Amino acid sequence: MARNVAVLAGDGIGPEVIAQAIKVLEATGSSFNFEHALVGGAAYDDGGHPLPAATLDLCRRSDAVLLGAVGGPKYDSIQPPELRPEVGALLPLRRELSLYANVRPVKTLKSLIKNSPLKGSRTGVDLVVMRELTGGIYFAQPRERRDNGNTAVDTCIYKREEIVRIAQRAFVIARQRRREIVSVDKANVLETSRLWREVVTEMSRLNPDVKVTHMLVDNCAMQLIRDPGQFDVILTENMFGDILSDEASMLTGSLGLLPSASLSDSKDGKVFGLYEPVHGSAPDIAGQGRANPIAAILSAALMLRYSFSDERNALRIEEAVDHALAAGLRTADIYERGNRLVSTTELGDAIAFKLKSAA
Ligand code: IPM
Ligand code: MG
Repeated sequence: MARNVAVLAGDGIGPEVIAQAIKVLEATGSSFNFEHALVGGAAYDDGGHPLPAATLDLCRRSDAVLLGAVGGPKYDSIQPPELRPEVGALLPLRRELSLYANVRPVKTLKSLIKNSPLKGSRTGVDLVVMRELTGGIYFAQPRERRDNGNTAVDTCIYKREEIVRIAQRAFVIARQRRREIVSVDKANVLETSRLWREVVTEMSRLNPDVKVTHMLVDNCAMQLIRDPGQFDVILTENMFGDILSDEASMLTGSLGLLPSASLSDSKDGKVFGLYEPVHGSAPDIAGQGRANPIAAILSAALMLRYSFSDERNALRIEEAVDHALAAGLRTADIYERGNRLVSTTELGDAIAFKLKSAA
């Protein structure tokens, strides 16, 4: 079966880390059709828009999308703000492709336990943030300035069906794990959160094999630092998920390690998804061979797992990453004395070599 993958490398370190992800995918021995297109600042420079129609078309024609990162200081002052890479490319991609389920696994890699800023008795973290990605305050209208620019308005809207479908995905993921969902909201203040809690509570009655509890978002932010081991699946709305997933990602010691999948409904048994590292374009280190390719490589593994039902090769990639780390190879972000400092390409090569030799 042909695996058609749209590759949107984007800006900053995007192209460097995506090149490693492609190398590693090819090293699994499966065949892929990779088709590249411009996105973000690179697309803006080329044609004046961060998400060209041709790029969106390519995504629609593909089975999955592999994305690097978008944005950079050069693009921060673009006017109107709708043309900035983040809002002009990432958000419409999510919305247009109905990628409502954002899965962000946060797992301490064996060799890196001591990289966590949380010292002491911790033995590691293994949780998934399930973030609603196409609703809430990121998208609802009106969003505007009033009163000669002196009043700013953002709107938060959630519909029952938007909550139902993301919660359903959380139940599926929870069943593949420890069967525990913590649903996070701000139901003591927000109406959207009260609806969220109501719907998740109803759904938990229909799914009694999964333990569901509710937690206020401020408490969750605190509990993630106090005792991250208590979490299995965190289910939450768009903006809370944005913040909590960055917080949770630091528990592993580097943002450079974490992959993400943004999924839409499954069609004909296939799940369309966009796969990208959680980290951004890191313009300060772009082009220097210092970027950590692991997040991009693990995102490619998630693509195999979710869009191509290829659990075997997904696991092989994850094991090859563990193996390279166990062998002491480190990019600068996770380097400690005694390790071997390697470049982006060297780490990609080592992971690909391991896959080829253990075919
Ligand atoms: C993320 C990012 C984006 C978001 C930004 C770049 C728009 O922070 O994917 O978490 O807020 O969703
Ligand atoms: Mg974010």
